[in-house]
Amino acid sequence: MKTADYYMKFKIRRFDGEKSWFDTFDVKAMPHMSVLDALFQIQDEQDSTLAFRYSCRGAVCGSCAMLINKKHRLACRTQVSGISGEKVLGIAKYGPLAKPEIKTGNEILVEPLPSMPVIRDLIVDIEHFLRHYEGVKPWFVGGETLPETEMLMSPRDLEKVKNYAECILCGLCYGACPSFARDGDFIGPAALAKAWRFYADSRSKNREEIVDRVDATKGIWACDEVYRCVEVCPKQVPPTNAITGLMRGTIKHRIKTIFR
Ligand code: SF4
Ligand code: FES
Repeated sequence: MKTADYYMKFKIRRFDGEKSWFDTFDVKAMPHMSVLDALFQIQDEQDSTLAFRYSCRGAVCGSCAMLINKKHRLACRTQVSGISGEKVLGIAKYGPLAKPEIKTGNEILVEPLPSMPVIRDLIVDIEHFLRHYEGVKPWFVGGETLPETEMLMSPRDLEKVKNYAECILCGLCYGACPSFARDGDFIGPAALAKAWRFYADSRSKNREEIVDRVDATKGIWACDEVYRCVEVCPKQVPPTNAITGLMRGTIKHRIKTIFR
């Protein structure tokens, strides 16, 4: 027996460069459908102008970060079946740019990532975030002359930095960070997590330089330590832990400098 098609409502924030509004679309439910699949269906069958960013479709590239039912999520990793009927939480947690639009019933509410300028519809400008990331010089420095063979780490040392190497630069942590929402000059969670990844690397030879870059009022000391970044990270990177590690490292380096 043929079962009737089941449709869900997607309420999507639009922006054309000048004005912003919401459009609602009926989307035919498919087995194992992700929010990204639903956006493709809308773009293919109802509105080809709907703009969103994606690449890998497999939670690897970080391009499809957005606000779904007021939660910071990757669209390709969010299954529609898991979130229809979900309650939308109070807006206070989500920063000033997440407008208090409330969805009804089974509607799925899709909006661009907060705290970043919207270019069009669900596409935000991540330039600022990438500049902060570049600013911490996110690469390994192992001394002036590198050895002929690999520089191996012990499994114990690897454990300390492994999680921090998993970042996919999705920017969800920036969208969720209250300090970044207040002040876009805050270096921010992913960049500081990467600084820690190299600071905590047992082979690093530039720890003092790393500390000098992040020891600033818009650096580690601007963090509110509310762990919102840790909560939303799809790759289990814990930026707040990295920031507290850098705080401890900074104090250690300051004391060392006094007694030099
Ligand atoms: S730390 Fe997590 S949330 Fe932040 S950019 Fe990296 S993967 Fe995304
Ligand atoms: S499309 Fe690459 S993470 Fe979603």
